[in-house]
Amino acid sequence: MSTEVFPSETPLEKLRHARGIVISGGPSSVYDPSSPTVDVSVPAGGIPILGICYGQQLLAHVLGGVVRQGDKGEFGLAVLDLTSADSQLLEGVCDHQRIWMSHRDVVTAPPPGFRITATTSTCETGAIEDPVRHLYGVQFHPEVVHTTEGRRILENFVFKICSCVKDWNAGERIAQIEREIQERAGDRKVFFFVSGGVDSTVAFMLCLDALGSERVRGVYVDTGLMRDGETQFVRETFAGFGLIRIEECGEEFLGALEHVRDPELKRHIIGEQFVKIQERIIEERGILDGRWILGQGTIYPDTIESGGTARAAVIKTHHNRVAGIQKLIDAGKIIEPLADFYKDEVRAIGRELGLGPQLLDRHPFPGPGLAIRCLCSGVDAPVTRTHGGYLVPVRSVGVQGDSRSYAPAIAIDAFPSQNSRLQDEATELVNRSTGVNRVMARVTTREGLEHQHVFASTLTHGRMDLLRQADAIVRELCAESGFDRQVWQFPVILIPVGAGEARDSVVLRPVQSMDGMTADSVAMPDELLHAMSARLMAIPEIAGVYYDLTHKPPGTIEWE
Ligand code: XMP
Repeated sequence: MSTEVFPSETPLEKLRHARGIVISGGPSSVYDPSSPTVDVSVPAGGIPILGICYGQQLLAHVLGGVVRQGDKGEFGLAVLDLTSADSQLLEGVCDHQRIWMSHRDVVTAPPPGFRITATTSTCETGAIEDPVRHLYGVQFHPEVVHTTEGRRILENFVFKICSCVKDWNAGERIAQIEREIQERAGDRKVFFFVSGGVDSTVAFMLCLDALGSERVRGVYVDTGLMRDGETQFVRETFAGFGLIRIEECGEEFLGALEHVRDPELKRHIIGEQFVKIQERIIEERGILDGRWILGQGTIYPDTIESGGTARAAVIKTHHNRVAGIQKLIDAGKIIEPLADFYKDEVRAIGRELGLGPQLLDRHPFPGPGLAIRCLCSGVDAPVTRTHGGYLVPVRSVGVQGDSRSYAPAIAIDAFPSQNSRLQDEATELVNRSTGVNRVMARVTTREGLEHQHVFASTLTHGRMDLLRQADAIVRELCAESGFDRQVWQFPVILIPVGAGEARDSVVLRPVQSMDGMTADSVAMPDELLHAMSARLMAIPEIAGVYYDLTHKPPGTIEWE
């Protein structure tokens, strides 16, 4: 049995074969005329439906319930209280479980025929259902790992309510992927732009396994935006295969980004530059003359987060999906063997292929590299006192209500000690404040928070080197202490914030996550944090060290 993704307006006739339908969440409001909607005959069609977040609101709206427009919303952890003992959807789920909320609007009156089966302290309609028509809705997100029993809820829907059966054999998946690669490639060869990351390396190895070493080649583009030692790592990883060439393009990238301060423009330029170089290499090497096809390590979250499904909001602008690549996709000259998989599955596939932990346990690293961790600023302005801390007028990205927005951060004067509950306080602070995406704690600064200033700045060689140096220190200490194995990812961000001559500060952003779609800001041992900040502050250009306390949502993992 399989899962297919359809646009929300798909008519009932096209869904007749489905055992069940999930209407997903999204950033829209049912009162906005341009919002996605569903064919009203779908809920009447007898197929079980589960509406999640916006999906619940939509279901309620089209069936005669009332949805109230929220002005602030609720983002982050909440506690779910069950109000019914015989809900099939919530069967076996314990009372008072942790759930994950991310919404503005809320259902205030369920449609006729529905009853409320669970509530939270701020949302009366935590879960609703009409068991006679097999219609179910939840305001929270059961699909994210932060909802403790989300998996059970989804299993109840899929296996009990929809009567689906498990007939997917994970042990067979490599053979199946490789068959698909062989079919798609036909008698063509596959050419890869490898990044050194897990995804493109696993995709490359799958093609190598499926097609043999005569039919797979790759280039690593050194964008000059990578971490210290990265090119060397790639050289060592692929050296044994002799199938990879390294293309030095650092000056081209930095040149194109020289005066750019806008975060999305930066991403766009990097994507365009990448495509330009890819096209140049492809042309020079006659790659797409009919005998070749382009391989990519795109994984499923990349597709969702880049708006790859028809209605998904653009949560992330990803360079695997920029226009140039899209042309290749449209021409069928592309192969993405991991496009249906999540990161943990990609790692499992890599392990089955015999790849070692030094590659598979690498933290994810974004394609646009350190460029999106080196914040630039068009404004030159002091930080200002605000409720709960200091407003730092940099632009950092967040995903409140599922859509991407850029907003200032709040800095608070509290040391992020391992035993503090600052992450909880940060969640409350973001929920309370409008127009703010993140909260960071001051680990140390040369001068007090009240003297900090945001400096107008761009992406220069000097700032990139400074970030590379800070990132290398953090990575070294994390590897030595074993902390790197306790986190999913640990971005180090340079922000143009400081005082006097020192005009940049470092933000530490260790997060825990399962798939990158949601994440928790995690604390680190005090001793390690002290050692790290001492090493960082030994660099004279660094004005301070901060610690990002924000979960995702509302903040993203990266700052841009
Ligand atoms: P965000 O910042 O959206 O990141 O919470 C989620 C995960 O995606 C990675 N990321 C990227 N990966 N190209 C990539 O290959 C990108 O443009 C990109 N942007 C973010 C991020 O590091 C995290 O693991």
